[in-house]
Amino acid sequence: MNYSQRRIFMDLVGQTSPVPLGLEVEKAEGVYIYGKDGKKYFDMISGIAVSNLGHNNKRIVKAVQEQAGKYMHTMVYGEHIQSPQISFAKILTKLLPENLNSVFYVNSGSEAVEGAMKLAKRYTGRYEIIACRNGYHGNTHGSQSLMDNEYLSQAYRPFVPGIRFIEYDNIDSLKAITNKTAAVITETIQGDIGIKIASQEFMSALRKKCDDTGTLLIFDEIQTGFGRTGKLFAFEHYDVVPDVLLIAKAMGGGMPTGALVADRKLLQVFTNNPILGYISTFGGHPVSIAAAVASLEELIDLEIIDQMDRKEELFLKHLQHPAIKEIRHKGLFFAVDLDDADFVKRVINTAYENGVLMDWFLYNDQAFRLAPPLIISEEEIVNACKIIVDAIEVNR
Ligand SMILES: Cc1ncc(COP(=O)(O)O)c(C=O)c1O
Repeated sequence: MNYSQRRIFMDLVGQTSPVPLGLEVEKAEGVYIYGKDGKKYFDMISGIAVSNLGHNNKRIVKAVQEQAGKYMHTMVYGEHIQSPQISFAKILTKLLPENLNSVFYVNSGSEAVEGAMKLAKRYTGRYEIIACRNGYHGNTHGSQSLMDNEYLSQAYRPFVPGIRFIEYDNIDSLKAITNKTAAVITETIQGDIGIKIASQEFMSALRKKCDDTGTLLIFDEIQTGFGRTGKLFAFEHYDVVPDVLLIAKAMGGGMPTGALVADRKLLQVFTNNPILGYISTFGGHPVSIAAAVASLEELIDLEIIDQMDRKEELFLKHLQHPAIKEIRHKGLFFAVDLDDADFVKRVINTAYENGVLMDWFLYNDQAFRLAPPLIISEEEIVNACKIIVDAIEVNR
């Protein structure tokens, strides 16, 4: 980025950290982002698990263009019948278990979480919500109430009352769930702690405890959804189905959107007593949902998920270096643990200089995140891994 562009960016555009990466983007295509500096970068982050089908996917772009040419916003969500919303709901619910048969559209992951909190209170008549320690659910007041990270939260209290925390993947901690609990909200696989994968025993016990106490089980698959972990949704790795599924990020194929998916009897609570229980002007925006339809069809038609075991194995084969302490992974979601925050920082910087974009985890600075577009080819995996391993070697 030339000096004046960076300066305008820093002065006129709201910032989220004192030292933004500041890559000036010219265009993006497939697994690559092209900088205005003429450099080409492997995108190993997918905009934090958004671009699962890569950049500039022709089918998604065409769907966006065609829908924009027909109509964009016509009325707040829920009033008009718009064909993209119907198409997406039809395709998605056919791919899901029977109880996940209705889709409530919102604009983002955080909004899906907010909606789920309201839905759980309204449906059960209870107010206590249980979340897992080290989870991430978003940055609005409600969603951030579900996080126990003191550093990120201390400046913004008070949050929503009635929230309790349990340990993820700890069966003992499930005794906190009682007939006073409206819902348990958890990521199916925890992401920002540096990937933590619960056992089948924990998931089954969690489902049972929720059933026994009349508590809704809500899975946040905002990061893990749409193929990221090697299944369409991560809960398919377990013999457990949630009452409510929260989706966003990759859902829109690069366009902003999100949704709650549940049985229609649950979602109906927003329609009466009081009516307008959860409304939003832009929820289910037709252009975003046209992109979501194209994206889901592409994911299924290209049988991308079927190729993921092989790609995951290839990453593991080529990501080998004695300085790597552990790789936690599911599908194309990897936490490469170097057990040293400063080392991680140097490796990320060197990889960036050499054309690979990687990232940190929100709650874990000992590991770096790899979540490439799922369309990455085997040759691209080998090439990207070489640059990453070289970056580890020069910084060890
Ligand atoms: C698991 C999870 N839940 C919720 C969110 C919040 O989504 P959004 O940033 O779209 O509000 C995120 C975003 O990173 C996420 O990873």
